[in-house]
Amino acid sequence: MTEQFEFTSTENAVHPTPDTSVFGENVRADARRIVERYPESRSALLPMLHLVQSVQGHVSQAGIQFCADQLALSTAEVSAVATFYTMYKRKPCGQHLVSVCTNTMCAALGGDAIYRTLREHLGVGHDETAGPPGEPGSITLEHAECLAACDFAPVLQVNYEFYDNQTPERALELVKALQRGEKPAPTRGAPLSDFRGAERQLAGFFDDLESEVEGPSQATETLRGAQLANERGWTAPAMPDDAELPPLPERK
Ligand code: FES
Repeated sequence: MTEQFEFTSTENAVHPTPDTSVFGENVRADARRIVERYPESRSALLPMLHLVQSVQGHVSQAGIQFCADQLALSTAEVSAVATFYTMYKRKPCGQHLVSVCTNTMCAALGGDAIYRTLREHLGVGHDETAGPPGEPGSITLEHAECLAACDFAPVLQVNYEFYDNQTPERALELVKALQRGEKPAPTRGAPLSDFRGAERQLAGFFDDLESEVEGPSQATETLRGAQLANERGWTAPAMPDDAELPPLPERK
């Protein structure tokens, strides 16, 4: 016997379309500029989500609706992407996002102690914000997986800029400075912005390209292997021009 289910519409089941008016004409113009970069408009979703975060400090339901409208996608498609990547925040972020690497190399060299120190100082845990989100001096704390800077372990990032070779004491001083409204220079790379400013850059917008991205991005540790190889005359075996490529796995 086939069971019969009855679906009823209740007031709670109604989801009104979010109001996207927070995204003014200038944001919509930026969104159009992003779309123009790609042959397929849907390819613009990742930078578009960063644009949304540069406006709101997170990806809200209105932000999801905005992206869907701009790119002719469903809100389910946008939500699937926004909830997959950790760089898209579902809760409003602080003025600064502090990401402490607690992956293997950093953890072994003190990353866990750094995270613990900052957690105790700020009184918040992973993905939580000390202070009113977006207000000056507010800090969102998160622990991060490998930040691809193991040669500088333990590291942390503020708004994705690197602070290398950290200790709990140095990290605490850094966070206190951020809370006072200071912007200590990262160890390498671009000068420090704030979370929303960094998000605008990730969307591909630079008001002053040179000053926003300028800064040394390499360091002795990173170049050490190449220098040693150079000094000792080590070279990698050449790739033969007629090298056979491995067969592609069969499609199932
Ligand atoms: S483990 Fe921390 S940067 Fe790789």
